[in-house]
Amino acid sequence: MRVGIIGATGLVGRTTLSLLEERGFPVSELTLFASERSAGERIRFRDTEVEVTTVTENWDLLADVFFCSVSDEVTRPILEGYKGDAWIIDKSKVFRMDPSVPLVVPEVNGNILKSTSSKIIANPNCTTIPFVMVVDAVCKVARPERIVATALQSASGAGKDALAELRLQREYLAVGQEVPDDAKEVFGRVLASNLIPRIGSFDKTGESTEERKLRAESRKILDDAELAIYAACTRVPVEVGHSLSATFIFSEEVNLRKIEKSLTSYPGITYRSGDDYVTPAQTEGADDVYCSRLRHAPEDRTVLHLWITTDNLRKGAALNAVQIAESLG
Ligand SMILES: NC(=O)c1ccc[n+]([C@@H]2O[C@H](COP(=O)([O-])OP(=O)(O)OC[C@H]3O[C@@H](n4cnc5c(N)ncnc54)[C@H](OP(=O)(O)O)[C@@H]3O)[C@@H](O)[C@H]2O)c1
Repeated sequence: MRVGIIGATGLVGRTTLSLLEERGFPVSELTLFASERSAGERIRFRDTEVEVTTVTENWDLLADVFFCSVSDEVTRPILEGYKGDAWIIDKSKVFRMDPSVPLVVPEVNGNILKSTSSKIIANPNCTTIPFVMVVDAVCKVARPERIVATALQSASGAGKDALAELRLQREYLAVGQEVPDDAKEVFGRVLASNLIPRIGSFDKTGESTEERKLRAESRKILDDAELAIYAACTRVPVEVGHSLSATFIFSEEVNLRKIEKSLTSYPGITYRSGDDYVTPAQTEGADDVYCSRLRHAPEDRTVLHLWITTDNLRKGAALNAVQIAESLG
């Protein structure tokens, strides 16, 4: 299959390349696009080097499937009005809520790929993917009335410039210097040794775009428009690995063992019990969504708490997209 990556030099683009290689994806030809800044760079893939170019006219004729991993602003002019024959698996938010475009986590709703007429397939947000897998596993036992989720999202979730900014901020702090404004351009604040309870922009109710995405995307993937999801998203000074602390509130008592069994048997989830909880650093480079710290609320068996961690660049982004491509056949 001829494969193209738009945004090949970014964190998600580079992770996609590694995964195509690791998983033995049948790549017959590879086309790599990035901005003018990277044009001419050569990237190794298997035993060859491929030159990066800017997005050319008729770019879509160069591959059968494209992984598009660029910002919303860059995605729009490239993909809006797309009528080509190549499959596009898009990581931006541009098409996620478009009713004519499937929003896919293969383990949850991959079956819709068989019947879609859309050539664009949207890849969900990096927090939504692990969250919906766990919610789906829980819902196979009992549907919660409400879910309260606090997402703790790593710096790499905002791209390579964000990761570089976190590292730069750390260097200033390590030598006892104040972080200057030009080292706060991506996050707007100091993230190193700190937390930032804002990802995206706030609407008039005070909810952030990231919080809205988690709710809206989860409802679309789970095909459950009424599911009550209350989210709070915070940026944390972790390099790679998103975490979620989630509370599920049910209308009646829920059996912990049944939930544990459902999580254990769910494809792509690794369940760990007791003291074997999983931290974000442990997920870096791993494919699975990790679920641990499952417990009832004290004195209330209608409430469950659990902890989710995932490599945001792999299952949260690139791996999910490669799995979609694998199921396109
Ligand atoms: N990071 C995550 O965990 C994650 C998870 C899910 C979804 N996403 C989404 O995936 C997309 C990519 O994220 P990322 O983290 O990989 O970002 P990133 O590290 O900042 O990389 C951005 C990529 O876009 C390229 N680019 C910029 N302007 C371009 C242009 N005019 N034409 C072609 N390419 C251009 C960059 O090329 P240069 O190197 O030449 O600048 C780079 O390859 C975003 O939409 C993001 O929201 C990210």
